[in-house]
Amino acid sequence: SPASKRSLSTDADGIDKVAVIGAGQMGIGISYVAAKQITKGLQFVDTLLGKEVKKGKMNNEEANRVRSRIKAASENGLQDGEFAEVDLVVEAVSENLAVKQTIFSQLATHLPPHAILASNTSSISLSTLAASAIDQKTGQSRARQVVGFHFFNPVPVMKLVELIPALQTDRSVLETARGFAERMGKTVTQSADTPGFISNRLLMPFINEAIIALETGVATKEDIDTTLKLGMNHPMGPLTLADFIGLDTCLSIMEVLMRETGDSKYRPSVLLGRMVSAGYLGKKSGQGFYTYT
Ligand code: CAA
Repeated sequence: SPASKRSLSTDADGIDKVAVIGAGQMGIGISYVAAKQITKGLQFVDTLLGKEVKKGKMNNEEANRVRSRIKAASENGLQDGEFAEVDLVVEAVSENLAVKQTIFSQLATHLPPHAILASNTSSISLSTLAASAIDQKTGQSRARQVVGFHFFNPVPVMKLVELIPALQTDRSVLETARGFAERMGKTVTQSADTPGFISNRLLMPFINEAIIALETGVATKEDIDTTLKLGMNHPMGPLTLADFIGLDTCLSIMEVLMRETGDSKYRPSVLLGRMVSAGYLGKKSGQGFYTYT
């Protein structure tokens, strides 16, 4: 198919320089995988590269080449012209609508005219983000160039990218983004711009139900996780997975599902809300359903 041909050639999709906004676990993972695939080309990256060299999957020379393709931009990178040659940008900051809207308006103002503006959002509406992609100098909308590009943690391991067109997205932008995701070695699924897309519409109510099972005394956290792990062959039980994703992220996705559908089946568990209020955010904070050292 034309899509698989494109994934075999190095840069037939025309994406040569990629920018990633956000240096959390998703942003760094995306930078790392993009740098490994892209034809021209931090501490976490060094750790990932070190592991690959140790396992014999990469030699030192290749690791140095990948490392040299990732450059940290300054705080004012957009205004200072550091993004002047970027073909595609992936925004991967925290799930906060106002912050993302500000970033999309800045991207629309400063990126070169052909650049694709992708968001790694896991639940925020792409059509809403696209509407904020307005060039502040000309007043022109760049909504047609906005697309959802949803990765999964850990990005180097998980084989999926969920592609989400906004109502405004150009077909050619969608196809270029699909080709680039395939070149990154990912399988692509496409979802309409609806709350939670495919992945979180199914995953988050499952995790939330596991938390409700815990708070209503159905079983211990260990027995809930072991049941799903060994009974259904899930790589992690739902409470371990919630800690891994981040309890704040789980809560914010449930709140989006609940608010945007108005359906009470998406009501976030009270315990989930309390844990986030207490600062127990899961693995990243050292404490969630389990303790991490
Ligand atoms: N970065 C890079 N590589 C990593 C990694 C990381 N953070 N964590 C693990 N790996 C690699 C390891 O190096 C190892 O590689 P090799 O096979 O080459 O040796 C491989 O992954 C397996 O790791 P481990 O043997 O240490 O551990 P495991 O077999 O238990 O796998 C796991 C770990 C891949 C995380 C697995 O438990 C798993 O798949 N869990 C479910 C993850 C999941 O569901 N993620 C999606 C969350 S939802 C989301 O991200 C989106 C959202 O919108 C909320």
